[in-house]
Amino acid sequence: MRIVSGIQPTGNLHLGNYLGAIRNWVAMQEQVSAEGGECLYFLADLHAISMPHAPADLAANTREMVAALVACGIDPDRSILFNQAQVPQHSEMQWLLNGTARMGWLNRMTQWKDKAGKNREGASVALFTYPVLQAADVLLYQATHVPVGEDQKQHLELARDIAQKFNNDFCAENAPLFTLPAPFIPPEAARIMSLRDGSSKMSKSDPSDMSRINMTDGADTIMQKVKKAKTDPEPLPCEKAGLEGRAEAKNLVAIYAVMAGTSVDAVLSEFGGEGFGKFKPALGELLVEKLGPINERFLSLREDRAALDAILAKGAEKARARAVPTLEKTYQALGLVRG
Ligand code: TYM
Repeated sequence: MRIVSGIQPTGNLHLGNYLGAIRNWVAMQEQVSAEGGECLYFLADLHAISMPHAPADLAANTREMVAALVACGIDPDRSILFNQAQVPQHSEMQWLLNGTARMGWLNRMTQWKDKAGKNREGASVALFTYPVLQAADVLLYQATHVPVGEDQKQHLELARDIAQKFNNDFCAENAPLFTLPAPFIPPEAARIMSLRDGSSKMSKSDPSDMSRINMTDGADTIMQKVKKAKTDPEPLPCEKAGLEGRAEAKNLVAIYAVMAGTSVDAVLSEFGGEGFGKFKPALGELLVEKLGPINERFLSLREDRAALDAILAKGAEKARARAVPTLEKTYQALGLVRG
């Protein structure tokens, strides 16, 4: 079992990242420690330069994200935690896979279409080839499972397509080079929505901070954001079916269920028939209770820049050692002379 996943250090770690992905990173770390195998988790800083950015912010956010991940339970002694920029094999592998990826495949990526918008001519080349780097990230390590939220599913399907085509085109039938990675998407929290609009996902790039709960928000901020979250005037239904067509209510109930480690049915049997005046404070308190300790750990970890840099350096060294063999085989398979 080889678990690989990444996150862009473009801003705060928010509840959508946590419930959709990081919670499973931690769970898989526990599972892998018990069963054998390895987890590699990284900061996708190379992906972050596909959009306009301020270099000083990227550097600061990269370190903050390390602190946030460790605060959430990623243990750098058990998982390999690193940033892409310190493992140049990611960029090299991307170039090698660029020969296999097809323009048509990339043109169909919804993230490319959404982020480039109408201004495709003005979008960066990196934004277009972004999914090839993502494929390189996982294929480089022969990942078997990739824990992500729903929005990354299409990118992982592309990684599988690239792996399959490369294996077909350049490897003997009984000796494929790349493992096909399986996405691991949590059924209950695959897509956490914005607190201000139940039709768009909770995201780092939403200009309104009120749209998301950051893992680093303090108690007062959390209570205020939950109180101001958009809802409808109806009381909560007693059964799951009653949440259909009520995107905001459905999102808040799902968040409650996952944070409390229970089911949507159980939440509705407790709060069905109640208005948001009762449900929101309960949700806010639950979030404060669960996120409080993470926030405290984050605040102390972020102060020690030398310790954060040491985590990254150690993780990068381990990642490079694991990346090199597959990269060399890829060069070889393509007929590139390496001396
Ligand atoms: P990123 O940085 O946007 O998000 C990190 C992880 O959080 C998940 N996520 C969500 N899950 C549920 N609800 C939401 N509202 C929500 N918002 C974000 C994402 O699905 C993701 O799992 N391209 C990736 C980073 C990446 C990567 C990789 C991931 C680069 N290389 C290789 C896996 C494997 C990204 O931008 O994620």
